[in-house]
Amino acid sequence: MKILGIPGSLRKNSFNLAMLNAAAEIAQDGLKIEIYDIKDIPSYNQDTEEEGFPQAAVEFKKAISNADGLLFATPEYNYSMPGVLKNAIDWASRPASCSPLNMKPIAIMGGSGGTGGTIRSQLHLRQVALFTNMIDMKKPEILVTKIQEKFDPDLKLIDEDLRAHLKKFLISFENWISIFKNDHISKKYKSFSK
Ligand SMILES: Cc1cc2nc3c(=O)[nH]c(=O)nc-3n(C[C@H](O)[C@H](O)[C@H](O)COP(=O)(O)O)c2cc1C
Repeated sequence: MKILGIPGSLRKNSFNLAMLNAAAEIAQDGLKIEIYDIKDIPSYNQDTEEEGFPQAAVEFKKAISNADGLLFATPEYNYSMPGVLKNAIDWASRPASCSPLNMKPIAIMGGSGGTGGTIRSQLHLRQVALFTNMIDMKKPEILVTKIQEKFDPDLKLIDEDLRAHLKKFLISFENWISIFKNDHISKKYKSFSK
């Protein structure tokens, strides 16, 4: 299965990006995680959309279409998801009638420096998943507090509990995706989706 890993942070030394890199390393043979950098996606503007999609947005949509699932790793900015992540999702959601987000299985994880573990950011992302009809895995969750303590200076994961949990999380995500790859279930699910 092909997974697109989407970091919500543009920071070079982002811990959320580091968590995606760790996930890519830990993933079992059946799961290939490719990380997608959203930094070149311009600010959403409906005028621009009507004039023609910018190349970076076209490429992002194509990458989503080609993936079996999306794995978001997002920080929390001011009790929500970073604007750059919401902006990338806004582009991918257009035009609504043929968005590649529709019926896309997703999983969400996140880490922050404090004790909230990105819970509010993840809730906002789930709210956006609701309208765009992405199919979000509810459990298990990954809400990492004090994320800076879980990685060494080279951004290698050093927390063994998080490593074990990440492994369990990825197995659950693979199972979650396989439910919706089943034609019979997928057709039934689609009948509820319009
Ligand atoms: C603009 C801004 C707003 C932030 N707001 C929150 C917040 O609401 N809650 C929180 O736990 N951390 C907040 N933080 C701290 C981030 O969680 C922390 O910088 C984290 O490491 C960023 O993720 P990254 O390492 O993947 O870039 C904020 C940081 C920035 C730059």
